[in-house]
Amino acid sequence: MSAPYEIRVIGDPVLRRRAGEVVDINGKLARLADDMLTTMYEAPGLGLAAPQVGVQKRLFVYDIGEGPQVVINPEVRETRGEWTYDEGCLSIPGLNFELLRPKEVHLVGYDLDGNELSIEADELLARCFQHELDHLDGVLFIERLEADDRKAAMKIIREQKLSAADLADAEVRSPTPSRSGFSLL
Ligand code: NI
Repeated sequence: MSAPYEIRVIGDPVLRRRAGEVVDINGKLARLADDMLTTMYEAPGLGLAAPQVGVQKRLFVYDIGEGPQVVINPEVRETRGEWTYDEGCLSIPGLNFELLRPKEVHLVGYDLDGNELSIEADELLARCFQHELDHLDGVLFIERLEADDRKAAMKIIREQKLSAADLADAEVRSPTPSRSGFSLL
C-alpha cells in the first residue's frame, strides 16, 4: 500500500508559504485529514501539516501515541517554560537537532465537527504543536536553530541533495531515519 500523498521535502516552495485559514469544514476536508493521517503513519511520523502534502490550508494531524487527532485553524494562546528536545521533520529527511522551545503551550482551534478545541499541552505534545504550527506559517525548524547548528544543518542538507542527485537514476531511496530519541514531526 502506498501513502495517499508524497511528503514534500525542503526545497519545495510550498513549505515556505503561509497557509490560508480553513473557511469550510466539510467532507472534503475530512477526506484530506484522513489521507494526511495515512501518509503520516506510513512515513512514520508523529505529526504532519497540510503544506507538507502540498495543501495550503491551516490544519495539521498528529498522534503521539494516544490516537489520531486533527486540528483546524490552530493558534497558540500562551506558552510557558523552556524545553530542549531533539527535533526532526518529515520534510527534512535524515536530520535532527536539539532545539529549545517553550515547554508548555495552550493551543486552540477546531476539530472536524467544527467544535472548538482548547488543549493544554506540555513536552512532546507541546513540541509537536509548535512544530506543526510553524509549518502552517512556512517555517522549518532548522530556521529556529542557533547560527552554528543552522550552518551545520544546511551543510548536511546540501550534501544529501548531491547524493540524492547521484542516486536519482537508480531510484534508490534512503530509508527513514529511525535513531531513537527523536521524533519526526
Ligand atoms: Ni515537520
